Amino acid sequence: MSRQTIVAANWKMNGSLELATQMCNGLNDENFKDNHQVIICPPAPYLSTIQANLKNSQIACGAQNINENEKGAYTGEISALMLNDLQVQYVILGHSERRAMFADSSEIVAEKVAYALASGLKPILCIGETEEERESGETELRLSYQLAPVIAKIGIESFKNVVVAYEPVWAIGTGKTASTKIAQETHEFIRGYLAGFDADVAQQVPLLYGGSVNATNCKELFAQADIDGGLIGGASLKIEEFKKICLAV
Ligand code: 13P
Repeated sequence: MSRQTIVAANWKMNGSLELATQMCNGLNDENFKDNHQVIICPPAPYLSTIQANLKNSQIACGAQNINENEKGAYTGEISALMLNDLQVQYVILGHSERRAMFADSSEIVAEKVAYALASGLKPILCIGETEEERESGETELRLSYQLAPVIAKIGIESFKNVVVAYEPVWAIGTGKTASTKIAQETHEFIRGYLAGFDADVAQQVPLLYGGSVNATNCKELFAQADIDGGLIGGASLKIEEFKKICLAV
């Protein structure tokens, strides 16, 4: 069975209205391979501009976070219902920057994933270990601690609607990409961990690699058996480079 491939752009707190329109114009006419999805996740103020300018059915729009509540007194937060209003399809959840700087624990991430799914959004669930965790041999333990509360909350069947992004924290924004060997081995572990709950579901879940992916290193990474695409930070802000990454799957 061939899994869907995905290249998603995480703009983080970068970009502009101009980049939002230009990125859509730059990608709209591309012919992507079958069963390939491109996702652009800009900061929330640019979501509707991206939505309005996308003309290619293989490109979708995603947000970078939601609150786990429906609505109310949560100043500065965004509700899944608001993303529904804009017909946004995806949402990045559990990014290591949110875990580290905004206190998104794995339990809160699980709540957010559940709420996203209940609202019809597809979560891109990010997991990853720090450099110290990798060096002390705790990578697999850390990843399983991040996955377990989500599985407990939503059930393994629901992972049919979840994309998992493995982003080693030490590779994010550092220019230090995981070697293809480390990336593949870790993806294989993640798929195996999911398979421990349901082998069929595990085969269907797209697993993305993220961390210093660029137009030069993406091909080799994407060629690995358990790597189904990438979650791209810095390189997703450069139109020509991002286009190459989208076409490299
Ligand atoms: P970089 O590609 O800039 O390393 O960022 C990766 C990332 O965090 C994507 O979510």
